Amino acid sequence: MKIIEVKNYHEMSRRAADFIINKIKIKPNLNLGLATGGTPKGVYKNIIEDHKQNHTSYEHVKTFNLDEYIGLKQDDSNSYYQYMYENLFKHINISLKQTHIPSGLNENNQAECTQYERKIVDAGGIDLQLLGIGSNGHIGFNEPGTPFKTKTHVVDLASSTKKANARFFNNMNEVPSQAITMGIQTIMESKEILLIVSGKAKQDAMVKLLSGVVTEDFPASILNQHHNATVIADEEAMELV
Ligand code: GLP
Repeated sequence: MKIIEVKNYHEMSRRAADFIINKIKIKPNLNLGLATGGTPKGVYKNIIEDHKQNHTSYEHVKTFNLDEYIGLKQDDSNSYYQYMYENLFKHINISLKQTHIPSGLNENNQAECTQYERKIVDAGGIDLQLLGIGSNGHIGFNEPGTPFKTKTHVVDLASSTKKANARFFNNMNEVPSQAITMGIQTIMESKEILLIVSGKAKQDAMVKLLSGVVTEDFPASILNQHHNATVIADEEAMELV
């Protein structure tokens, strides 16, 4: 993994956005994997800003999101569909037909997982996957203990993850208990990975990630084995490393 340490959240967001924009300039039909959570919001702001100023085009870009809560309607303000629409898609020239997010409202979640996996393969695989990290090392919603070989699947969310994400909901009871997430193998099959990390809450996670020990107890540790992974982390996240 290549580690880029930057000053703060602002700098991390700008560097990560530039990283993505440069890839799109080289390959206008990039298959771009996207993440949600608090961390990528600044990256999306920078992408929107650049789109307005420099007219970088997303006409031929396809996007694939990592995950979605089970049980939330698309128009629920906490669905990742809504997050992506509000924080990125509505501000750039991308047709929603080219954006993909697992559906969290299915008769058959297993079929949805299989179909989602097939969509990624049919598109030719993900060229660049943007990732955040949970403080327990989760990537997407792959919680500690998830086998590295998993493809897109249904997960029960760890209580620490529900707690961490409760800040986006009115109360803890509203946080869904399950989600559909790309599997760790799906993520690892991306040609390139960009992990962004910021703030105190991620200090322990950075220590574990950079210890080099690869274990299913800390899902993000597998990124040490990816042949083309970059981490952009701010000083605060790196403080204990
Ligand atoms: C959620 C998402 C992850 C994200 C993680 C960290 O659980 N499913 O993809 O990386 O939260 O979120 P934050 O960036 O808000 O710390």
